[in-house]
Amino acid sequence: MKKILVTGGSGFIGTNFVNLISSKNYKILNIDKISEVSTPERFKIIKYPKKYFFIKNDLKNYKKILDTLKKFKPDLIINFAAESHVDRSINDPLNFIKNNIDLSINLFFAYSHYLKIKKIKFFQISTDEVYGSLIKGYSKETDPYDPSSPYSASKGSVDLIASSFNRTYKTNIKIINLSNNYGPYQYPEKFIPTLILHYLKNKPAPIYGKGKNIREWIHVKDSCEAILKTIMSKRNFKKINIGSSLRVSNIEIANLIFKIMKSKGLTDLSKKKFLTTVRDRPGHDERYALNTSLFKKIINYKMQKSLKVGLEDTINWYLNNENWLKSTHKTYNYKRLGLID
Ligand SMILES: NC(=O)c1ccc[n+]([C@@H]2O[C@H](COP(=O)([O-])OP(=O)(O)OC[C@H]3O[C@@H](n4cnc5c(N)ncnc54)[C@H](O)[C@@H]3O)[C@@H](O)[C@H]2O)c1
Repeated sequence: MKKILVTGGSGFIGTNFVNLISSKNYKILNIDKISEVSTPERFKIIKYPKKYFFIKNDLKNYKKILDTLKKFKPDLIINFAAESHVDRSINDPLNFIKNNIDLSINLFFAYSHYLKIKKIKFFQISTDEVYGSLIKGYSKETDPYDPSSPYSASKGSVDLIASSFNRTYKTNIKIINLSNNYGPYQYPEKFIPTLILHYLKNKPAPIYGKGKNIREWIHVKDSCEAILKTIMSKRNFKKINIGSSLRVSNIEIANLIFKIMKSKGLTDLSKKKFLTTVRDRPGHDERYALNTSLFKKIINYKMQKSLKVGLEDTINWYLNNENWLKSTHKTYNYKRLGLID
């Protein structure tokens, strides 16, 4: 049975990923420091609990990570751990960037030592945001990085550090640049839950600036299936973009969610009052769009969820998971973050 070390497996994507692989034939170890945005362990849906282990730890000490690697003996490592909320990165760039770089260097260094014992692959989850804002066209894996936020700069830096480790320490760190995820367990501070939760309370949802910013939305279940196929693939690559090709502006997403919720009687808001514009995010990127030719060519996975179906599922999930939502109220008070003055 393959053993997988998942770091950051208590965040939004990590929780979905752990839930998915726990229903398959893997032994899993999740290391997560449990931050404000993490999902507590009790909300995980682990199919075979005897094959799942969790260590609450900050990944800032490579010796501790190396000890854990020697004990668990993984066949593969996948790193989701990062501070990931862009608005928070604007409020506190020092701690944010430090955390993301520290944890990654420690993981990479421990992994480089572990390679002397066992030759395994390491997958680093990165983002489409590292390529920066595009007016037109699509970001290819070989494109230069041009990040706009402290968050994307920290992620881009980690990707460069990974590449330097591959050359200097002969590691085998592969980078997955993923587009914008949505779906179950996403912390309410993010755009799609913000819309759903405002409409449920019959409040107009805030939209940054003119709402014309375009994102490539991928349902987290599709993204986890795609990641699993990618990390299990025997095909060789250094870096791979994973996206859905579903590129939609914020205002269109808000419209879609409002329409679905209105048609199901989940909101009493009128179409005239369903949005309120608020100050734009400083450095807000206009458009992300990934070129996913490599993924389509070497990984045999077709995205399952249309935007409409994915959004309907997501609305239902928030309706049916009140206890999870209550657990997030301890750390999030719905106040606007990420403004400079
Ligand atoms: N959410 C998206 O749309 C998206 C898109 C592309 C890429 N990504 C990347 O995917 C990864 C997962 O994203 P997410 O949305 O699940 O993020 P998240 O913020 O919900 O979860 C990240 C997890 O990492 C953990 N973590 C952070 N620092 C740590 C440390 N020092 N030690 C141990 N654990 C630590 C946190 O406790 C948290 O549970 C991130 O690397 C993010 O940059 C996310």
